[in-house]
Amino acid sequence: MAAMAKYRNIVILTGAGVSAESGIDTFRDAGGLWEKHRVEDVATPEAFARDPNLVLRFYDMRREAIQTKVPNAAHLALGRLDAEWRGGLLIVTQNVDDLHERGGARRVLHMHGEHLNAWCLACDRRPRWTGPLIDRPPCPACGSRALRPDVVWFGEVPYRMDEIHAALREADLFVSIGTSGAVYPAAGFVRAARELGADTLELNLERSKGSAWFAETRLGPATELVPDWVDEVLTSMA
Ligand code: OAD
Ligand code: ZN
Repeated sequence: MAAMAKYRNIVILTGAGVSAESGIDTFRDAGGLWEKHRVEDVATPEAFARDPNLVLRFYDMRREAIQTKVPNAAHLALGRLDAEWRGGLLIVTQNVDDLHERGGARRVLHMHGEHLNAWCLACDRRPRWTGPLIDRPPCPACGSRALRPDVVWFGEVPYRMDEIHAALREADLFVSIGTSGAVYPAAGFVRAARELGADTLELNLERSKGSAWFAETRLGPATELVPDWVDEVLTSMA
């Protein structure tokens, strides 16, 4: 008799910790981005209104940098999970890099936007964008020089919250990977998932602000913990 699969629908939340071993700085670890830059200077709509060149330059540098990085074993394991998992799956990422996609994952939702998109404030389109924005290039769709990074700033509402909550309602397993649990609404997903009856698992380098909410926390680097967990869950499906 085939073993009964334990889970059907999985929601995974990822944060900067999943990309750390690809060489992309996290935000809140020692030496992280928010130690080098004040959030208020580069990641708010007010900052963009006050000093657009500073903000555009900051995101131009980050956009250029991520294109030199490659997915690590954690991204690749999640890509394998996406390819092989026959149940429901949504990888909700707070990351604005494209390493989940380059690691083979398809069921990915970028709740904080994407470095490789620009957002035209004139026509509201979001063209794919790999180059700089500092020189105010025209929007490929409407020609306006009104492109900004398509990244959610503090004080702005994350994307696709309805879809995320719909997936949480269906989830019987919620897994958080490499996030400090410091930024809402993402930090609240574990509580929502629990209240809706899902099992909860945290994979993180160290205990996070949210650890107490998880039924289980495993500590270690994502490149070790994630491949092991993916093996486990795919074995349970067989
Ligand atoms: P943080 O920098 O706040 O947290 C990163 C977490 O990853 C920490 O808990 C680390 O312990 C853990 N970590 C570091 N290296 C790791 C590794 N190799 N393996 C596993 N875990 C590791 O980043 P986020 O939680 O993603 O928002 O931050 C959330 C949001 O805050 C970001 O999306 C960004 C930021 O301000 C916006 O820009 C809107
Ligand atoms: Zn436009």
